[in-house]
Amino acid sequence: MRGHRLFIQICAQCHGMNGEGVDFMGARLIASDWVAQRSNQELVAFLKEGRPAQADRPAMPPKGGRLDLTDRHLYDIVAFMRTLGADDAASVDDTSEGSMSDQPLPSQP
Ligand code: HEC
Repeated sequence: MRGHRLFIQICAQCHGMNGEGVDFMGARLIASDWVAQRSNQELVAFLKEGRPAQADRPAMPPKGGRLDLTDRHLYDIVAFMRTLGADDAASVDDTSEGSMSDQPLPSQP
């Protein structure tokens, strides 16, 4: 899944490889009510915006710091986040990665 690879490359440093969350960094995303209560459009809008730092936690950077991501990438990531609430989230499998070559991640500036 494309979104899975993007998540690992960009989001996992702060949210964990499987969205399990990292202490004092990104929130846990597995089975997140916050995520579940938002539409795909709202989640993409959130990812573009990020969230300012709070007293007890750092900021979520817009697009996870990858400003070159397109909406399409963000929707793919949102699709991956949806799988994190599933019963089999722990076993999200990587074997389907061969099919994602149609849209490579843009190279970093
Ligand atoms: C530099 C670290 C960092 C990166 C990279 C990052 N995030 Fe975050 N993210 C955070 C922090 C910090 C928060 C706020 C956590 C909190 O408020 O408890 C957050 C919050 C979120 C939330 C809201 C969760 C909630 O329950 O409020 C979502 C969804 C999210 N991030 C998704 C992503 C996605 C998807 C990516 C990759 C495109 C990403 N993040 C990349 C640090 C990061």
